Amino acid sequence: MAGAIVTDPSRRLTPVVRLAPAKLNLTLAVVGRRPDGFHDLHSVMVPLALADRLSLSLAAGRDDSLHVDGLDAGPLAANLVLRAIEAARHAVGAGWAGQGRPPALAARLEKLIPVAAGLAGGSSDAAAAIRGACEAWDADVPAEELLAVGAAVGSDVPFFLATDPPGAALVEGRGERVRRLRDVVGEPRPGILLVTPAVAVSTAAVFGAYAAGARAAGSSARIASEHLAGEMARGLSPRALLDRAAVIASANDLLPATLSLVPELVGFRRALARAVGRPVGQSGSGPTCFVIYPSEEEAGAAAMSVVEAVAGGRVPRVGGGNPTVLATTLATVAPETAGSREERES
Ligand code: C5P
Repeated sequence: MAGAIVTDPSRRLTPVVRLAPAKLNLTLAVVGRRPDGFHDLHSVMVPLALADRLSLSLAAGRDDSLHVDGLDAGPLAANLVLRAIEAARHAVGAGWAGQGRPPALAARLEKLIPVAAGLAGGSSDAAAAIRGACEAWDADVPAEELLAVGAAVGSDVPFFLATDPPGAALVEGRGERVRRLRDVVGEPRPGILLVTPAVAVSTAAVFGAYAAGARAAGSSARIASEHLAGEMARGLSPRALLDRAAVIASANDLLPATLSLVPELVGFRRALARAVGRPVGQSGSGPTCFVIYPSEEEAGAAAMSVVEAVAGGRVPRVGGGNPTVLATTLATVAPETAGSREERES
C-alpha cells in the first residue's frame, strides 16, 4: 500500500515486546445513532497500569500463530490479535523489503486483563499487535494509516494507537476520533479498584439493548463528559479527580442497557458500593465496576476487603463464580504530556 516506508529486511532476531494496557471510560455518553448502525460517543478514556504483554517473533512458514498464557482469552480475543497482524500485513503491502509478503509472526500473549469486561483488553492487544508487527517487519506505516487499520479491527483500537504509549483522551465518533487530553497530572497516581463479575458481557448486545430503549431518561452523562474533557484538557490533579468520583460513577449511558442484560448486577453493584463506601462506576459496556482511590495501596486494601465481602456472602457471586478483583493505577503520564504542552489532535 502507498506510503509504507520499508527499511532493513528480515534481520530481527529478538522478539518485539509490547505492553497492551487496559482502558477505563471515566465517562461514556452516547450522543447519537449512525447510519451504519454504530453509535456516536463522547467518552473520556484513560489507560491503566494493568496491561497484557504481547511478544512477536519472525517465524518460519506461512501462518501466524498465537500462544496465550494467563487468563483464558477465549477464541474471540485470540482472533483479534491474529486479525490485527493480518490487517497490518495488508497495510504494509506486498512490497515488503522488496521480498514480497511480510513474513509470518509467532505471537505470545500474556493475558492479565479480564476478557469481555469493558476494559478493552482485546482491542489493546490488537493495537499492540499492529504496532508490534510493523516493528518486527521494520515497516514504517504512516500514523493515519495505522489508525485506519486499527479502526477497521475494532472501535476501541484507535484509542490505543493514537499515541505511543496511549494516554488520556477524548474519544468521539464510534471511537475513531481520538484527541489527547493533558491527563490527571500528579503523584501518587490515583488507585483504581476493578471488580469484574464472572459474567462475560458482549459489547454488541449492550449497544443493541441501548438501541432497543434500555436507557435512562434525562441522562446527564454528556454534560458530565464534556465538563470532564474540558478539565482534563487543562490537566486535573489527582485530588480533583477524586472529588469528581460521584459524577464520574454516574456518567455512563450504557449502564441501564448492561443491567437489562444481567439484572443480577443491580444487587451486585449495590452491595459493592456498600462494601467500599465509595461511588462505583462501570467501564464501557461492563460488567467491570471501578472505584477511584487516592493511591494503589488504598485500592489494594479495598480489593482485600471486597474479596472478604464476597467470601462472607455480603457481595453476591454473579454468574456463579468469584469476581476478579484487581488493584491498579492510572497509567503513568508520559513526560511530554505531563507539563504545559498544548493539547494535540491525533
Ligand atoms: O467495533 P466493535 O467490534 O468493538 O463493536 C462491537 C459492536 O458494538 C458493534 O458491532 C456495534 O454493534 C456496537 N458498537 C456501537 N457503537 C460503537 C461501538 C460499538 O454500536 N461506538
